[in-house]
Amino acid sequence: MNSLPDSRPMSYSRGEISAIVMPHMQNILGDLFGGNLMAMVDQAAAIAAIRHCGGPAVTASIHQVDFRERIPLGSVVTCRATVDFVGNSSMDITVEVTAEKPSTGELKHTHTARVVFVSIDAAGKPRRVPRLVPGTDEERERYARAERDRQQAGAR
Ligand SMILES: CC(C)(COP(=O)(O)OP(=O)(O)OC[C@H]1O[C@@H](n2cnc3c(N)ncnc32)[C@H](O)[C@@H]1OP(=O)(O)O)[C@@H](O)C(=O)NCCC(=O)NCCS
Repeated sequence: MNSLPDSRPMSYSRGEISAIVMPHMQNILGDLFGGNLMAMVDQAAAIAAIRHCGGPAVTASIHQVDFRERIPLGSVVTCRATVDFVGNSSMDITVEVTAEKPSTGELKHTHTARVVFVSIDAAGKPRRVPRLVPGTDEERERYARAERDRQQAGAR
C-alpha cells in the first residue's frame, strides 16, 4: 500500500455518483426502491472514504438515513458524500441525496445519510487514516457537527 500523508484537506475526500431511476430499480409504488438507494449511498460514501484513506475501507455502520421524499421513476438521483470527521481508523461520512426531474430541472433534496467507514490493511485489520483538515467555514461547521454527533453516540 502507498505511504500515507499525515493529513488531507476535507475538500480532497468527496464522492459523488448519479443514476437515472430505471424500471428495474422501482418498488411496487413505482418509486426508487429503498434498498437501491442505500446501495447508491454506500457507494458514494465508499468513494469518499477510499479517497481519504488511500486504500480499502469497509462500511462499519449506516446509522442514520432520513427518508424525506419518494423518488419517482425517471428521476436523476445524485448522492454526494463528504468525510466530516475521522478517528484513528474510522471515517464519519455524510451523504446528501438529491433527485432531479430532468425534463424540467426541478431539484429536491430528498435524503441525508450518516455512514461510518473503517480503513483496513491487507489483513483486514483497522488501519490509521490521515487527519482531516477543514479549510472553509462550511467545512469547520460540518466537522464540529460530526464531532458532536460522535460524542453523543458515545464509545462504540
Ligand atoms: C469494521 C471492522 C473493520 C472493525 O474491525 P474491529 O477489529 O472490530 O475494529 P475495532 O473494534 O478495533 O474498531 C476499529 C475502528 O472501527 C470503529 N468501529 C467498529 N465498529 C463500528 C461500528 N459498528 N460503527 C462505527 N464505528 C465502528 C471503532 O470505533 C474504531 O474506530 P477508531 O479506530 O477511529 O477509533 C470489522 O468489524 C469488519 O471488517 N466488519 C465487516 C465490514 C463489512 O463487511 N462491511 C460491509 C461490506 S464493505
